[in-house]
Amino acid sequence: MPRPPPRALLDLYRRLTLDYENVHRGQSLPSRRTTERFEASYDTIAAWLNAPGRRTMATYRSTTEAINAVMYSLLTEFQDGDNVVTTMMEHNSNFVPWYGLCREILPRLGRRVECRVARFDHDTGQLDLAHLASLVDARTKLVCCTGASNFLGVKPPLSEVRRIADASGYQQPGTGSGSLLLVDAAQLVPHDAVDVQALDVDYLAFSSTRCWRLSASGCSTPRSTSCSGHCPSCTAET
Ligand SMILES: Cc1ncc(COP(=O)(O)O)c(C=O)c1O
Repeated sequence: MPRPPPRALLDLYRRLTLDYENVHRGQSLPSRRTTERFEASYDTIAAWLNAPGRRTMATYRSTTEAINAVMYSLLTEFQDGDNVVTTMMEHNSNFVPWYGLCREILPRLGRRVECRVARFDHDTGQLDLAHLASLVDARTKLVCCTGASNFLGVKPPLSEVRRIADASGYQQPGTGSGSLLLVDAAQLVPHDAVDVQALDVDYLAFSSTRCWRLSASGCSTPRSTSCSGHCPSCTAET
């Protein structure tokens, strides 16, 4: 039985529609007020996740779109011989983009990049960290891991995954050594208090659909240092 959105959210919608106009598209008072509220929402989300600030965030329609945006923003950075490591615990949203990147997109650009997939233990449902570590090497540009599996309910130890990614020895252009880490937090954010700085991820993707049944706002919150070089869609107005 589908649950309706929270009453507080429906009440907010009702109040806002009385004073609603297009965002960034008009000079009327309602338009300017709606634009202000829209812009302020970046600060609200940043504070909620303890993100360094609104400039490290971008909003999308869903977790899936946020992960695809990261994939496309990194597209030109992959070198021939690189690899991406993901896991068998992933929702399709955090597997298909990377598989498609390696099997369909980059070959057309003449680059061979491998998609490696880490196992999980079929008895415990836990991510096989030893297998993950064996797949990550000095050519691993990116590690992609779920924050909480939608079919196992298991939360991989992200600090361990971060440690493995950091130890890879990959040379990221301009930002030093180590693999990037993307966490699919579609099931983590609704269940845990998430602090992106404590998690120390490069990208965190989630959607409000899974939190409040709001059909929008996939969000990717990179480490502040990761954002500048290769995330053309990281745009929140200052
Ligand atoms: C772990 C996980 N990742 C990604 C998604 C896809 O989320 P979205 O519908 O916001 O793209 C889901 C959806 O349930 C999920 O459970």
